[in-house]
Amino acid sequence: MSTIEKAVGKLGELGRNGIQQISDVSGATVPERGVADPQPVSGKQSANRVELDLERLERLGFLTPESGRGQLNEEIRHVKRPLLINAFRSGDAYQASNLIMITSARPGEGKTFSSVNLAMSIAKERDKTVLLVDADVARPSVSRTLGLQPKLPGLVDYLLDDSLALSDLLLKTNVPNLRVLPAGRSHIHSTELLSSDAMRQLVSEMSQRYADRIIIFDSPPLLATTEAAVLASLVGQVVMVVESEKTGRQEVNDALALLDQSKMIGLVLNKARPVFTSDYYGYYGGYGSSGD
Ligand SMILES: Nc1ncnc2c1ncn2[C@@H]1O[C@H](COP(=O)(O)OP(=O)(O)OP(=O)(O)O)[C@@H](O)[C@H]1O
Ligand SMILES: [Mg+2]
Repeated sequence: MSTIEKAVGKLGELGRNGIQQISDVSGATVPERGVADPQPVSGKQSANRVELDLERLERLGFLTPESGRGQLNEEIRHVKRPLLINAFRSGDAYQASNLIMITSARPGEGKTFSSVNLAMSIAKERDKTVLLVDADVARPSVSRTLGLQPKLPGLVDYLLDDSLALSDLLLKTNVPNLRVLPAGRSHIHSTELLSSDAMRQLVSEMSQRYADRIIIFDSPPLLATTEAAVLASLVGQVVMVVESEKTGRQEVNDALALLDQSKMIGLVLNKARPVFTSDYYGYYGGYGSSGD
């Protein structure tokens, strides 16, 4: 069987298991790995509003509301479309479907890169508001990536302190439709908090109170911590980032096995080589069948 035939077979198999989509975020238009690893900068920020340095983000290879119709923009649109369609469908199968978890099997596969780009892309839509939550609380990097001060209170503080109101922690930004919830203070049990009752309540509150918003959770890797799978059980949609030529087939399968297969799950192939970008199914097959 050819690689492509195997790929198509694999896709069918995945589809039957509830996987919605395989998309390709090649990164062909963005800097080499490592270059896009921003350092904190002190952007202007007041109590509940931060000013993102959009030129800096663009220089680092991220989408911004000003980005034109480049390749990355198009690729993220492919990822975004089905997520938005699912997010606003009604029916039992679409519970909390405005809550989208971005995860991967292992660290470093592009979760934050994908979360930030997806949030920016959704924020560009005139009638959509997006909240980007840094739920990778043990290795938070949304604030660093966006150039925010590192010590802003956020998710961990909220989960530890009953007296805090969520609305006091949400940061408005100079991207009109984009809000950010930083990870908050570092805490020895921060990851465990993701499976706490407080987190369950928060997620439920978010899905009800912010039903008209898309909420993106930049999350820990599924194979690194059991709490990631708990978080996955709370949200309506899960996007698993697969790093081209790095994430092994077994790792993808092991990570997928931790997810409730009735959930809406999407796979995003990150850092695919440009030569393959017009044919992501073929590319996925090339990747997937290499483990046979
Ligand atoms: N498509 C891409 N093109 C270029 N660089 C990328 C791409 N995807 C990710 N990167 C870069 O690779 C590095 C790792 O990506 P990222 O931080 O998004 O991974 P992660 O899964 O969030 O990692 P961690 O598990 O440590 O949180 C970063 O420097 C990021 O900017
Ligand atoms: Mg990250």
